[in-house]
Amino acid sequence: MEPSAQSRPAQADWLPEDFLQSLRAFQESRALLTSIELDVYTAVGSGATAAEAAARLGTDPRATEMLLNALVALGTVSKQEDVFRNSPLAERFLTEGCAADARPAMMHIVHMWDRWSTLTECVRRGTSVTYQEPEERDPKWTLAFIAAMHANALQRAAPVAEAIGLEGVRRLLDVGGGSGAYAIACAQAAPELAAEVLDLPRVVRIAERHIAQAGLSGRIRTRVGDLREDSFGGGWDLILLSAICHMLSPEENLDLLQRCRAALGPGGRVAIQDFLLEPDKTAPRQAALFSLNMLVGTPGGASYSRSEYAAWLAQAGFEEIRHVPLSGPSALMIGRRCS
Ligand SMILES: C[S@@+](CC[C@H](N)C(=O)[O-])C[C@H]1O[C@@H](n2cnc3c(N)ncnc32)[C@H](O)[C@@H]1O
Repeated sequence: MEPSAQSRPAQADWLPEDFLQSLRAFQESRALLTSIELDVYTAVGSGATAAEAAARLGTDPRATEMLLNALVALGTVSKQEDVFRNSPLAERFLTEGCAADARPAMMHIVHMWDRWSTLTECVRRGTSVTYQEPEERDPKWTLAFIAAMHANALQRAAPVAEAIGLEGVRRLLDVGGGSGAYAIACAQAAPELAAEVLDLPRVVRIAERHIAQAGLSGRIRTRVGDLREDSFGGGWDLILLSAICHMLSPEENLDLLQRCRAALGPGGRVAIQDFLLEPDKTAPRQAALFSLNMLVGTPGGASYSRSEYAAWLAQAGFEEIRHVPLSGPSALMIGRRCS
């Protein structure tokens, strides 16, 4: 017999499952990060039991089996009669000698974990509590960081060069140019163009390797410098600031843009590529979250809105300021030195 409405127990008032899943999402993330940190997929190779994988990794067999079972649940490995095998994704991107090795770039996300663990304290204090100057960091950190930037740039650099428009550009300065991927794409798109990549000493050495591999050492040179205080010389047709402004505070960005303007020839342009927030700064989602990435990682960086960039460009004396949407979460802001 159905209980009457009055005798039926009240439905427990509790949090919705999708909210709880978001709270627990770190468990999935951490399992995947550990699989990359340990190089589990290389250990699984063409198929391995947990004991075999543990022997290759030098890890505990019971714990390795627990991790592998969880990775089956997450879809990066499969399991049949105690033998684990890599998924097509793991096989293609996450094993030694694979077709498109993403492991060095993914190590950057592994390193982000430590910083994000300090978010609560960063919100209390208003700034990163673990900040180290780039050249003081473990060289492995820098290698992973630039590998991640390079992987991203390989997808974006050619369309970004096209969106900026390189007609008439003979001299390009890529400030904080990282691996050199953007300067390389620009030089490949415009045969008359010569470029300079300015970055920190360790990073310039990485850029030089990529530039040489692209056969462009004759047209792209590098310069060790500090983008926070150096003068950028003069006579540039285009200065690129790709993924730079989010590292800096509003005051530092204004100062940077003023130095860029001073270094451009008449008619020269500055092109900023970055996450651009909506005016209320709550979207796009990736840009809003990335702002926290800058809170935990820099003294004063953040994601900024299109109107903030436009205001700094105008204050620095740029004209013909325009916004150029791109596919993906980033966009361009371009300004011209007219006089
Ligand atoms: C987020 S990465 C962007 C790299 C590249 N522009 C791109 O879009 O792929 C920031 C770059 O700025 C460089 N950088 C950071 N601080 C710097 C400084 N004080 N002076 C020069 N370069 C700096 C980093 O080494 C890194 O290459």
